[in-house]
Amino acid sequence: MSTSTTEIASLALPKTVPITTTRVRPPKKNIPQTKAERDALLAAIRNYVEVHNPVPPMPQDELEVHARKIHKQTGTPEIYLHYTAVCLNNEMWRETLASIPYERRLLLMPKCLRVEDKCPAPFDEFGLLCKQCGLCTIQDFQNEAERLGYAVLVAEGSAVVMSLIQTGKIEAIVGISCLAVLERTFPYVEAAAIPSVAVPLLQDDCINTTVDNDWVWDYIHLSSEDKTRRLNLNALHEDVRSWFDRESLETIMGAATGQTEAIALDWMARAGKRWRPFLTVAAYQALRDDRGEPIPEDIKKIAVAVESFHKASLIHDDIEDEDHERYGESTLHQEYGVPVALNVGDLLIGEGYRLIGECSVSDKQKTEMILAASVGQRELCRGQGAELLWARNPEVLKSTQVLEIFRQKTAPAFEVALQVGAAYAGHLNEVATVLHEYSEALGIAYQIRDDLDDLSEDSGKNELGTIRPSILLSTTYEKAKGEDQEFMAQLWSGKNASADLDRVRALAHGVQADDRCMLLLESYKETAIRSLQGLENANLKGLLRRVLGKIFNDLEIKGWCREYEVKNGVREDESVAPATEDEVTAVAAG
Ligand code: IPE
Ligand code: IPE
Ligand code: MG
Repeated sequence: MSTSTTEIASLALPKTVPITTTRVRPPKKNIPQTKAERDALLAAIRNYVEVHNPVPPMPQDELEVHARKIHKQTGTPEIYLHYTAVCLNNEMWRETLASIPYERRLLLMPKCLRVEDKCPAPFDEFGLLCKQCGLCTIQDFQNEAERLGYAVLVAEGSAVVMSLIQTGKIEAIVGISCLAVLERTFPYVEAAAIPSVAVPLLQDDCINTTVDNDWVWDYIHLSSEDKTRRLNLNALHEDVRSWFDRESLETIMGAATGQTEAIALDWMARAGKRWRPFLTVAAYQALRDDRGEPIPEDIKKIAVAVESFHKASLIHDDIEDEDHERYGESTLHQEYGVPVALNVGDLLIGEGYRLIGECSVSDKQKTEMILAASVGQRELCRGQGAELLWARNPEVLKSTQVLEIFRQKTAPAFEVALQVGAAYAGHLNEVATVLHEYSEALGIAYQIRDDLDDLSEDSGKNELGTIRPSILLSTTYEKAKGEDQEFMAQLWSGKNASADLDRVRALAHGVQADDRCMLLLESYKETAIRSLQGLENANLKGLLRRVLGKIFNDLEIKGWCREYEVKNGVREDESVAPATEDEVTAVAAG
């Protein structure tokens, strides 16, 4: 028996995510070019503010003195000075902004964030009247800010803003603005001493501009209610990573008493990003009642349990995928043979349940954790199963079918991680629905990234190898024409394992499948953010939003296609072609 492709369901694409490819426009020269660089600079600025505590409002020249110090510490080029000064000003106001109720804040957005040639919104004297068409992020920011109680304006007009401030109703501004406008308005805002943060637009050409959305979300939601605001995610991640040293694992799990256990412990300790146990601890931190108490030792057991399930799934996955390498080393079955590897995977699943059973929480909480883990395992196997049965007789999959497989196979491990942390804190029921939606979007985004990395030029792969459901390959097939589409169909049928990957990359790039996949990745990240909108718990909400930034910003997609990078680097001011009508219809139809 084998699965026919028609048996694999299609995933409805996220409905109202921005689909314009302008979102991958390169930033202006005077702004750090990659998200990773911008995040690193912001982290350095935040750290500087914490250590030196500079007090706002601060005139421009003084700001620049501090900005220069930050540049010296971090080796940041002079050209970014203005950008650094703006970010520094934002961070100096951070604590004050957090203490001002949402109802006394104004969110100010520029109309150039819209998709110029498709935006249906009219204007009145206060600015743009968003029609909620879903093409850009304005509606998301607006809806969420209004839900929180903000006044919102999509306008450049400083007169309107000033009059609003004079009414005394507005005590703080969260803005999005280009560096050029900020330069002009800064002296007024500084003189008025209004707590304000302004997230810099990445371009200043007044059309189809982009912004680091997660920064905007972060500032919009900044609230002193969120007790995890000061939780240092980097430190937490480091902490969690340290639990997986071989020695630490023995302390948590117990010493290995035989060779099978020793192999399992070695495999657990070998490598890994540890995102899943990190999520467990993060969810626990956000939801725990006994804030301020030291973190209980038991949580290590729970976190290790979550990683055991994950590591077991990787052993089995490598057997199923016939992969010889993971973490730059031999896979376990390559090293010990399939029977031993299978058995070690089975052991790790058992170990996960044992660790949950051993921790000291109520029976109800244990039941919740066990149920979460077992349901997650079941879902993951169903997803892997869909992929493996398809692989017996592979044929072209639609991108929506590929995404459905991603949802099934990758999202569960994230959901289990979060659910277990929430159950351990005693609050799973209240947040289970949101965790489900968040994990689905996070899991899909994560697997899209893995897919792109897998086929990137940096992967070192020159041949396609075994055909797998791939979002890049499905998108390329869908967009290719004639002979090229025929070539892609051949690949999908699994009969062309020795196909030259460079040709596939060039083809994918030629039809902008790479851009499309990047866009999908962004869309799912945003879907994850949106899933948090109904969450009452400020701690969990703030934390999960920040976690998303952390998981994705560490990993820039590098070298997917050299030509792509060259294009972005050299033709700095050219905007990428907007989405086609087909794409608009496809997404709108959902
Ligand atoms: C691998 O997950 C399987 C996927 C879902 C892509 P990770 O890439 O997170 O693996 P580790 O945790 O670092 O080993
Ligand atoms: C991830 O699938 C494995 C599971 C979800 C269990 P992949 O096969 O796509 O992941 P990698 O690339 O081997 O890590
Ligand atoms: Mg695999």
